[in-house]
Formats: sequence, structure tokens, C-alpha cells
Amino acid sequence: MAASELQLPEGLELRRGERGLALTDGTLELRGDFTRLLPRLRPANLSHELLVRAARVKGVAEPFVVDATAGLGEDSLLLAAAGFRVTLCERDAVIASLLADTLERAQGTPELQDIAQRMKLVTGDATQVLAALDQRPDVVFLDPMFPQKRKRAATNKKLQLFQRLEQPCEDEEALMQAALAAHPRKVVVKRPLKGPYLAGVKPSSSLAGKVVRYDCIVPH
Ligand SMILES: C[S@@+](CC[C@H](N)C(=O)[O-])C[C@H]1O[C@@H](n2cnc3c(N)ncnc32)[C@H](O)[C@@H]1O
Repeated sequence: MAASELQLPEGLELRRGERGLALTDGTLELRGDFTRLLPRLRPANLSHELLVRAARVKGVAEPFVVDATAGLGEDSLLLAAAGFRVTLCERDAVIASLLADTLERAQGTPELQDIAQRMKLVTGDATQVLAALDQRPDVVFLDPMFPQKRKRAATNKKLQLFQRLEQPCEDEEALMQAALAAHPRKVVVKRPLKGPYLAGVKPSSSLAGKVVRYDCIVPH
């Protein structure tokens, strides 16, 4: 679907400029930008990323991960840079169009080209995408929206533009069940540090940082 045909909340529009497709309210602009993350993609830094450590799969040359809640694709980028082949799944058509544009720009950026080649976007609901996979994923990664604390949200106005598109996660049970039904070696869930387990599923292990926690569920 062309960006101009997408339904947007009142007061928001998609605008294409020299730096790519952006969501704007007329004042602020939000666009995906993988170049911002380049310092984190250096091998020495990547190995310290909690997500990379949580998703790591031993003995598989190029593990296959489904990022079921891709958003603007930053977590997927870290995984692709760490050598994962990533299918990015995003159900919101506006967010998916911003992500598609970000991926396209990455393909034309020498430092990101190889990484972007390992990333494939699928627009659709993850519960359906996971059920229709033709290959068993090594990892399913879940990062559905968690209700933000007012104080933090106020500090990042661009993030607030994004949050006007994003629906609160009302299908965490379905998302978790679809992830487990795809029979991955593990499901990795990103949560706020003190947040409850997604769908109440107790993880086999967790890696906690200062702000977020990665819960790893290893199905038996
Ligand atoms: C918190 S954001 C993810 C941020 C992402 N990890 C990143 O690095 O940019 C959650 C995203 O998941 C998407 N989402 C939530 N439920 C989904 C589902 N069932 N299928 C596909 N996408 C979903 C939302 O539209 C939103 O863009």
C-alpha cells in the first residue's frame, strides 16, 4: 500500500523527505535511523548487548529469529548484526511502512548493507505469521508495548508520536501461544525491569539490565 493511502490518527501524517519517510505532527518528525546505532554494532560492543546474549544459540551458524513485534526494527538490527537471520513482523501498516523505508536506506548504506541483507520484513499479525512459517525458528523474540510510566514518556516526545500509532498489547496470551507453537529453541521476551512475566509464563532464566529485562523461555 502506498504511504499516502494509509490511515493515520488525526494530526499525524507521513512525509517523504531527503532523509527518508517520516511520521510527523507538523513539528516533530520520527523516522527509523539505523546509522544512529552503528557504535553498538561493533563486534566488541555487540557481545555485551543483553538481547544478543539472551538470544544466543549455540552450535548454529546463522540462527533464524522471528522478531514478532518489530516496531522500528532496532532490536532486530542488533540481532542481524550479531549474525542472526531475522524475519521482522509488524502488524501496524504505518509503522511497517516506516520500517520498510528504514531497511531500504540501510541497504544503500555501506556499513549496514550486509546486516540489512539478513533482515526480511513481513507486514501482518505475528500470530498468523508465526503459524504460517515454513521453517522452525531458532528463536522467537517478543517485545509488545508495555504501559509507559508518564514521567518517562514525557521525556521523549518523538516516542510519543510512535505511541499514538501503537495499540496496547491486548493479545499477550495469543502472542505467547503462537510463539511457543512455532517450536523455537527459545522464546525471548523484553520486559521493563520490574514488569510482570508476559502472559504469566515463568521464564527458565532472565538477564536483567538497568531498565529492561530479557526473559528466556526454553520449551521442554
Ligand atoms: C514496543 S514496539 C517494539 C519495538 C522494537 N523491539 C524495536 O526495537 O524498535 C512493539 C511493536 O510490536 C507491534 N505489535 C504488537 N503486537 C503485534 C502482533 N501481534 N503482531 C505484529 N506486530 C505486533 C506494535 O505495532 C509495535 O510496533
